[in-house]
Amino acid sequence: MAPHKRFRLRTPDDLRAEALRLGLDIPYRDDPSVLLEESSIGGRRVPNRLAVLPMEGADAERSGAPSEGTRRRYRRYASGGAGLIWFEAAAVRRDGLSNPSQLLLTEGTLGGFARLVDEIRNAAKKEWGPGHVPLLVLQLTHSGRFAKPEGAPRPLIVQNNPHLDPLHDLPPDSPVVSDDELGEIRDDFVEAADLAVSAGFDGVDIKACHGYLVSETLAAHSREDSRYGGPFENRTRLLLEIVRHIREEAPGLLVTTRLSATDAVPFPYGFGMDPDEPERIDLTETKALVRLLAQAGVRFLALSLGIPTWKPHLGRPFDEPVPGGQVPEEHPLEGVARHLDITTEVQRSSPGTAVIGAGYSWLRTLGPGVGAAMVADGRSAAFGLGRGALAYPDFAADLLRRGRLSSRKVCTTCSLCSHLLRRQRRVGCVVRDPAFKNAVGKGSEA
Ligand SMILES: Cc1cc2nc3c(=O)[nH]c(=O)nc-3n(C[C@H](O)[C@H](O)[C@H](O)COP(=O)(O)O)c2cc1C
Repeated sequence: MAPHKRFRLRTPDDLRAEALRLGLDIPYRDDPSVLLEESSIGGRRVPNRLAVLPMEGADAERSGAPSEGTRRRYRRYASGGAGLIWFEAAAVRRDGLSNPSQLLLTEGTLGGFARLVDEIRNAAKKEWGPGHVPLLVLQLTHSGRFAKPEGAPRPLIVQNNPHLDPLHDLPPDSPVVSDDELGEIRDDFVEAADLAVSAGFDGVDIKACHGYLVSETLAAHSREDSRYGGPFENRTRLLLEIVRHIREEAPGLLVTTRLSATDAVPFPYGFGMDPDEPERIDLTETKALVRLLAQAGVRFLALSLGIPTWKPHLGRPFDEPVPGGQVPEEHPLEGVARHLDITTEVQRSSPGTAVIGAGYSWLRTLGPGVGAAMVADGRSAAFGLGRGALAYPDFAADLLRRGRLSSRKVCTTCSLCSHLLRRQRRVGCVVRDPAFKNAVGKGSEA
């Protein structure tokens, strides 16, 4: 591990030199055109291989319907030209909300989601013409142990976890969700997927990352006497049942998942960890799961890493932690390389599944060159930005029209968007978006 360092790379050669110094594999391609061409992801045509990754905005109406703020964010992404817009987490039932302003997809909010889809399809068409039709995927979630439907924690946990329970002041013997309730939640995902079809989405993502409910079942080694705990077959059951049921109910809908390739929580309390060396990442089960998902009809998926409240730098390599947060003992480029390596390993083990990685925002203007090399080398299927898209919603437009990103518009990885989300405030880019300039008051604590 090299010490943490803020971003100081100006050119591709700086990046190459820093990667060499740190002994990291960071591929780079000067020509980004492989990302800009029309192609297909998961069997669907996309105008380009540029993706907006899901970023919660915490700005829904009290009903859970998208607000004007939500629609503004997605209109900007759509006119910004990305070929794949992966919508943020929307809860499938009220007790699964991560905060009171998270999106919630129900019969009652369906109209609001349909309007959102309509507006962004129109925004994309207006800017880019009728031939430019972005793929729209909605992430569906139950927040499980991170649920805060009224603002205060109301965790629904799958197993007791000595690493994560203290984060929410949970006693070690807290009650866990029953198999019957997990079955009900499975059915809620399927109902929400039906609603997503009515709203006009092309696909749904069964969120299986960041320690939320479905993700937690994958790690439920210590859950006893349960269809959803213990051996691999049981731990993957909930995700696979949801996927299969949706495929039966809504055969025309794309079904995908955003998967934490590893939780990075020591075995046996984390997924994707080595049983013989509990703190070491091991992708054996991750790769086996991706193969099972492919058999169930999942033709593309997005990968993430870790659990944001546990080790935030794993998923989101940054210059600055959230206010009051810890600076990690690793160079952010090591974090980026971990994302690239894991994405590559999963993509190479399942070449028939289109795999989309994350963690590129720290690279600023150099991100697309790395993304282009990943795609050109068959290590990934697309280049996506999370924080980078929030800061720079028209990043795709600048790549398509000018062949490069502007250093004045890129994300600075200051973590203030994460801070806003933790504070359950409307999320936006404090640095780049004038509408959020004063969102973090002076002296605001962590
Ligand atoms: C404020 C904020 C909200 C996020 N919301 C979601 C979400 O709803 N669903 C999800 O899968 N990931 C979410 N993420 C993670 C991002 O999609 C992405 O994986 C992460 O920021 C790393 O990619 P990047 O370097 O491009 O930002 C969120 C991240 C942040 C900072």
